[in-house]
Amino acid sequence: MQSLQAKASEWSGVDSADAFAIDEINLFQKLGLEAFVNLSTNFYNRVYDDEEEWFRSIFANSKKEDAIQNQYEFFAQRMGGPPLYSQRRGHPALIGRHRPFPVTHEAAERWLHHMEQALDSSSDIDADSKRKMFNFFRHTAFFLVAGDELKKTQNQTQNQTQNQTQNQAQTQQQQQQLPCKNAPSNSHHACKNF
Ligand code: HEM
Repeated sequence: MQSLQAKASEWSGVDSADAFAIDEINLFQKLGLEAFVNLSTNFYNRVYDDEEEWFRSIFANSKKEDAIQNQYEFFAQRMGGPPLYSQRRGHPALIGRHRPFPVTHEAAERWLHHMEQALDSSSDIDADSKRKMFNFFRHTAFFLVAGDELKKTQNQTQNQTQNQTQNQAQTQQQQQQLPCKNAPSNSHHACKNF
């Protein structure tokens, strides 16, 4: 089976080396916390104002200020800064934390659309850092899509197992209701218990 990283590269069109070029220099030292705060504020202002209701509604249960803080603390930490995010929230575990949300291919493209615009309008981030950051975002967005598809497959398997168990229970119940003499010999009819 293809790994989530391999799927992320294939679907995003960004190979791992380009996605993790953010680690070649310390972007936090280069840009400073304020640049990350501004980027996430700009991004989430766009998300919460999105004319596409289906996308805006994914964030309906989150407070904008919290979403902004979660995001800039994660970005700052991931790009060489202090572990602000983990000190407050624990391990990032991004796939797990996105589990409640429909992270589809379409949602990833919409997320990236807003992020591209937020980066374009950031005057405190230089062009090379923008390119590195966007490659990381694009790869990670599709990594989350791959995680979301895995979740759907796992749910399907779980439902199948649940259905099988329910069917078995139903058959057993039906067999219990048969008169003893009609019960199949390999059944779990009550009379087989003694
Ligand atoms: C692919 C499309 C994406 C969708 C639809 C999506 C959706 C969401 C939503 C609805 C939240 C909850 C807002 C909050 O309360 O913080 C969230 C949180 C978060 N997202 Fe995303 N996201 C996407 C991509 C990404 C990417 C690419 C990254 C990182 C590069 C990311 C990093 C985070 C982080 C760090 C949080 C905070 C998690 C927490 O502490 O609970 N997301 N996302």
